[in-house]
Amino acid sequence: FCRNFSSSSSRFGNIKHVTVIGAGLMGAGIAQVAASTGHQVVIVDQTDDILSKSKATIEKSLQRVAGETFIAEVMGRLTIKTDAAAAVKNTDLVIEAIVENLEVKKKLFSSLDKAAPKHTIFTSNTSSIPIKDIAVATQRQDRFGGLHFFNPVPIMKLLEVIRIPATSDETFDKLLGFGKAMDKSTVNCKDTPGFIVNRLLVPYMMEAIRMVERGEASPQDVDTAMKLGAGYPMGPFELTDYVGLDTCKFIIDGWHKKYPDNPLFMPSPLLDKLVSEGKLGNKTGEGFYKQKK
Ligand code: NAI
Repeated sequence: FCRNFSSSSSRFGNIKHVTVIGAGLMGAGIAQVAASTGHQVVIVDQTDDILSKSKATIEKSLQRVAGETFIAEVMGRLTIKTDAAAAVKNTDLVIEAIVENLEVKKKLFSSLDKAAPKHTIFTSNTSSIPIKDIAVATQRQDRFGGLHFFNPVPIMKLLEVIRIPATSDETFDKLLGFGKAMDKSTVNCKDTPGFIVNRLLVPYMMEAIRMVERGEASPQDVDTAMKLGAGYPMGPFELTDYVGLDTCKFIIDGWHKKYPDNPLFMPSPLLDKLVSEGKLGNKTGEGFYKQKK
C-alpha cells in the first residue's frame, strides 16, 4: 500500500473522504490504509489522549514500511476529532469500529444519521453483530452495509463487503470500489453470522478445542498436524491465542444463544475455564500456550 497517490483524490469510485469511528486496534489500521491509499481520513474516538496514541501507533506502523516523504503525506491526510457528529458533516463514508455492543453502536449511528449528508454511506466493521440490527437505527438502510477488515489491517489482503436486504446496488458497488481503492481483495457477503471467514474459522477452532477436551490429541500435535498436513500457516491453538480466547468465547456464546440447536456453536468447558482464569492468549502472556518472554 506504500505507493504514491494524489493527495486530493482516491483512485477509484467517488469515496474520497472517510470517517473512521473508534481509534483502537482495527480503527487505527483502517485509517492507516485509507490514508495510505489517498483518502482524506478523520478518526474519531472518545478522548484526545486515545486519538493521539492512535496517531502515534499509525506513524510507527508506517515507519516499518515507508519513507519519510510518504509518511508525511499520509499523516497529512489524517485528522482527529472527538465530536463524531461534526466529523461526518462532510464525509462520503463512515466506517464504525467501536466497542462490540449493539446498543452503543445503534446510539452512535442514530445520531450520525441526523448529522451526515444524504449521500454518506454508513458501514460497520462488526465481527458478530448482524448489520441489519445496527442499520435499523437509521433512516438510510439503503446506504448501509458492512466492511469487515482483518487484523492486522495493513497486512491482511481480505475485505468482506456485506449487504443487508435493504442495501442498494449503488451502495454495494461503491463499497466494492472503495475496497479496491484500499488495495484489498473483496468478497461479497450476506448478513449471516460470521460472514465467510469467521463462520468457518470459529467452529474449526472450537472443534480443535473439543478434540483436546475429548483427550484425542494435544494442542501441540493438533497445531503441527494442521500446519504440516493441511498447509495452514498457524495451527488452531496458535490462532486462538492470537485472536484472544475471550474474543472466541464472546463470538461462540453469542451464536449459541441465538442458535442453541446448532452443534457447531456449542460452548466449550475448557475454553470457559481458561477465560475465567484470565488466560486470554498472547495479550495476557498465556492461553493454550505460555508466551516465550
Ligand atoms: P478496540 O477496543 O481496540 O477499539 C475500540 C475503540 O472504540 C476504543 O478506542 C474506544 O475508546 C472507542 N469507542 C468506544 N465507544 C465509542 C464511541 N461511542 N464513540 C467513539 N469511540 C468509541 O476494539 P477493536 O478490536 O478495534 O474492535 C472494534 C470493532 O471491530 C468491533 O466491532 C469488533 O468486533 C470489530 N473487529 C475486530 C477485529 C479484531 O481482530 N480485533 C477484527 C474485525 C472486526
